[in-house]
Amino acid sequence: MTGTSGKPTRDLLFPDLSDVIDERIAWFQHQHKNEPLRHRAEYNMWEVFRYEDVQTVLKNPETFSVTDKTHMGLPFSFGRADIEEHRFLRGFVARSFVPSTIEGQAPAFASMVDALLEPALASGKLEVLGDLGYPLMDHVIGHLFGLRIPGPGRFRQWSDQMFGQLVGIFQPDHAEVVGMLTEQLDERKREPTGDLMSALLAARAEDDRLPEKKIIHMCLDLVTAGNAPLSLFLSYTFARFCADPAFYQALRRDPALIPGAIEEVLRFDFSWFNLWRTARHDTELAGYQIKAGSYIVAWDSAANFDESRFPQAHRFDITRSPNPHLPFGQGMYICLGLPLVRTLGRVVLERVVRTFEEIRADPDRPMRTQERMIDYVVSLDTLVTPAKASVP
Ligand code: HEM
Repeated sequence: MTGTSGKPTRDLLFPDLSDVIDERIAWFQHQHKNEPLRHRAEYNMWEVFRYEDVQTVLKNPETFSVTDKTHMGLPFSFGRADIEEHRFLRGFVARSFVPSTIEGQAPAFASMVDALLEPALASGKLEVLGDLGYPLMDHVIGHLFGLRIPGPGRFRQWSDQMFGQLVGIFQPDHAEVVGMLTEQLDERKREPTGDLMSALLAARAEDDRLPEKKIIHMCLDLVTAGNAPLSLFLSYTFARFCADPAFYQALRRDPALIPGAIEEVLRFDFSWFNLWRTARHDTELAGYQIKAGSYIVAWDSAANFDESRFPQAHRFDITRSPNPHLPFGQGMYICLGLPLVRTLGRVVLERVVRTFEEIRADPDRPMRTQERMIDYVVSLDTLVTPAKASVP
């Protein structure tokens, strides 16, 4: 429960998360009412549950720092860089994630999705993560950043390593992926290509705040950060299709419901996420006195079930509006991939509802999850029935 350096590790939070979603929501809401901040003195840690308080933590990096999020052992990443450096580094990559730029890629994404769905038309089978989520992200990342992605499987392994480390279940060795990125950086040094790495190298020539090591680690963040959560998002959505065929048919009949469905899956199904910070100085939050150096666990997932923001929060409602959910965080460290998740998620679901009349869980291959983590889906095998005619 504490690592070698004495800092708390994420696995100490697992026991509180019931496998049953209704119980989990009940626990979050119990905390909202009875113990909005929980002090766990043995870990020098405060857990924060209410929407307003989670928002305060995330939006005030001057008080709640990201730089010592707990010892995740990750190589340097701009997601953990302190305020000034983060602003500087994020500026370089943010332009690749401007919503209109990403939206302009929708036709290219649609072709990628169609190509990945094609084998399922013939076989009647689709494993959501291995056949769709991860290979799609390989193509998308290669396409957006101009990076050469090694053969299938490798990239997934690296992405899982990174994500698993973030959520506290692995302590992997990143040497291989860092080696691959270093090789590509060397190629760009010899021959710039106009891609993200080349642009970072050009910027480095003029600014010594961008050493090569940081370029590599930024690229590592970008190529691996989103693959597991995006694939998980698809697995959660498909699991809902399997459990509730009427939900799937509603989206088929009216694809305009897809964006609202995406937002509600994001609010509801990442109900295990939490974001870590450290108090820089003594401070007060919601009437509680927090000492400098305390670890702060902002339960963004609990905030997503706070009745003060989400009336009837326990109801899965794809028409919910507004839906100011927090699974991407908030403030200056908010997930950079958010516009990509929205556009790519929409494109995938639009293509899926056109392509398949029905989606069912494969009774011979039950969904598999990581040991001890029911939310971390490893495979979801489905049986799909091709549509007789495309729905409009
Ligand atoms: C459903 C899918 C996703 C979820 C739920 C998600 C969630 C998150 C969260 C919670 C953070 C940390 C925020 C914080 O520390 O305050 C984050 C950061 C980040 N995410 Fe995502 N993410 C998703 C997909 C993606 C994708 C597809 C990409 C890119 C290809 C991506 C790239 C990043 C990057 C680069 C950061 C660091 C941002 C920064 O500190 O400036 N994410 N994400």
